[in-house]
Amino acid sequence: MTALVRTEKLSLSFGGVVAADAIDFELHAGERLAVIGANGAGKTTFINIVTGFLKPTSGRIYVEGKDVTALDPRRIVRLGVGRSFQLPQLFLEHTVRQCLEIALIGKGGGLGFFKSLSQQVDRKEIDHTLDLVGLRERAEEPCASLPEGQRKLLDVAMALALRPKLLIMDEPTSGVASEDKLDLMNAVMRALEEQKVTSWFVEHDVDIVTRYATRVAAWISGRIAADGTPQSVLADEAVRREVLGIA
Ligand SMILES: Nc1ncnc2c1ncn2[C@@H]1O[C@H](COP(=O)(O)OP(=O)(O)OP(=O)(O)O)[C@@H](O)[C@H]1O
Ligand SMILES: [Mg+2]
Repeated sequence: MTALVRTEKLSLSFGGVVAADAIDFELHAGERLAVIGANGAGKTTFINIVTGFLKPTSGRIYVEGKDVTALDPRRIVRLGVGRSFQLPQLFLEHTVRQCLEIALIGKGGGLGFFKSLSQQVDRKEIDHTLDLVGLRERAEEPCASLPEGQRKLLDVAMALALRPKLLIMDEPTSGVASEDKLDLMNAVMRALEEQKVTSWFVEHDVDIVTRYATRVAAWISGRIAADGTPQSVLADEAVRREVLGIA
């Protein structure tokens, strides 16, 4: 089966820092991948390269066999690779519904001249996405009034509205109170499952990793140091020492 995403010897250096070091990686449809790694290990950099936000120094990226190395982020989104951000990218002065409208219009290639924002998107489509993540009751509220957990959820919803095949989430639970993390992940993973979206999420909390991932990849200094079942990766000696901080 062709991999949904494949990278070949993907490298990127920032000055003297090797943030991605010849990474060979494959992700297949149906996987739920958790990425773990210490601060600065290169988890976000790798996501930025795969989604077109950064260009690699060398190496190639393929989405379903198509070489996307030279494509910009919008073209990569159109091939079905969505993402959410470590810091939610919301339009705080707009309502929840308007954020989704803006996300959908962005995919369509920009604003048409003679129509208002809400005339250009399918209201039902937006209601469906809001229902999926449980944000329907807050649709008309300004994003600024949402607590952090719901801001993260809206950021995911904006990516999900574009009907991706894969959703890459950079620390979906960071900044969220620990008692709210499970509710957030339940809402996110339920929505992804319902839409049959493959998932890849960066997460520091081992409890969340073991609850939701079918596969774990551990980043150490710009490389994937271990990749496999959650059990095997979390038991790996280098991962325990360098990532989990367990002697
Ligand atoms: N735009 C940039 N310019 C210079 N250095 C950068 C840039 N982006 C990342 N780096 C460096 O690359 C390395 C990897 O950073 P990255 O943000 O990918 O780590 P991370 O694993 O996502 O960390 P965290 O868990 O803190 O989010 C770090 O040393 C970081 O300082
Ligand atoms: Mg990061």
